[in-house]
Amino acid sequence: SLPAKVKIVEVSPRDGLQNEKDFIATGIKVELVDRLSAAGFPNIEAASFVSPKWVPQMADGAEVMQGIRRRPGTIYSVLTPNLRGFEGALAAKADEVVIFGAASEAFSQRNINCTIAESIARFEPVAAAAKQAGVRLRGSISCALGCPYQGEVPIESVVDVARRLLALGCDEIDVADTIGVGTATRVRQVMDAVTKVVDPSRVSGHFHDTYGQSLANILAAMEAGISIFHTSVAGLGGCPYAKGATGNVATEDVLYMMDGLGVNTGVDLNEVVDIGMWISSRIGRKTSSRAGNALAAR
Ligand code: HMG
Ligand code: MG
Repeated sequence: SLPAKVKIVEVSPRDGLQNEKDFIATGIKVELVDRLSAAGFPNIEAASFVSPKWVPQMADGAEVMQGIRRRPGTIYSVLTPNLRGFEGALAAKADEVVIFGAASEAFSQRNINCTIAESIARFEPVAAAAKQAGVRLRGSISCALGCPYQGEVPIESVVDVARRLLALGCDEIDVADTIGVGTATRVRQVMDAVTKVVDPSRVSGHFHDTYGQSLANILAAMEAGISIFHTSVAGLGGCPYAKGATGNVATEDVLYMMDGLGVNTGVDLNEVVDIGMWISSRIGRKTSSRAGNALAAR
């Protein structure tokens, strides 16, 4: 059976924009977050506090957080790979910090320049500081359905990282298909395995749509009891360290599906269609949302 309600985490300001080559003005990022806030998203991933040498597009995280208008009830999350990032996030008054690891050794090396074990050790002080400061803590597991460098990723590796992130005190754990290679049965198996060690209410699905499987994967995840999903307006997105990966599943498509399924999101689809068209034109791209295109043409 499907959940009556899901939480949609809008990740376009971070995952959606981080891979854009030309620097996007801080004002556009701020306006994107503000428009998303107005559309009623309960959680927005607003920025990264990572090394600007690694991801130059996210170098203005502090300014973005300073510039946005906060909607009461919305959680504003930021990525923090280390203590330095956490300090920036705390100063910026982020509601939630995200430590991000991987189920694949090869991807861990390329994305955060350390082994999985080293990453967990690096996250420990971040987690402790978050708890101390009363900031929500989320843990993300990249390459949970496959890796661009090592290929197959055993389910046991995903469960193992989930267990370690839970031990660090994560309030929520993201199962991420970084390169969008997963298909429904495998997603079901991974979610069934992860929810044996983490309560399903704390597990989220983060799907990239490279192979067009995201909606099917979200449905499969809902059947496994998952009720938190990460999406990006206009299907923007991609990780600079995941070659060939395209954007996250488009928010418009997910909202259209949820509306049809009678699953409540609390977010207005028509408003999101407008935001998707607006940000696409601002950054000179065509939307990759099918529902967005169809509804904008009406
Ligand atoms: P490193 O080079 O091993 O570490 O990078 P370092 O400590 O030697 O730092 C390198 C330089 O960055 C130094 O500057 C540091 O001061 C600076 P220098 O001394 O050379 O002038 N630095 C920082 N600056 C600002 N904020 C910081 C920070 N930390 C160090 N927090 C590090 C290690 C983890 C820092 C680096 O690898 C990094 O920043 N990686 C981030 C990569 C990233 O953001 N990837 C995209 C997000 S993850 C993703 O998209 C996947 C996800 O969507 C889920 C999915 O789809 O799978 C979440
Ligand atoms: Mg991602």
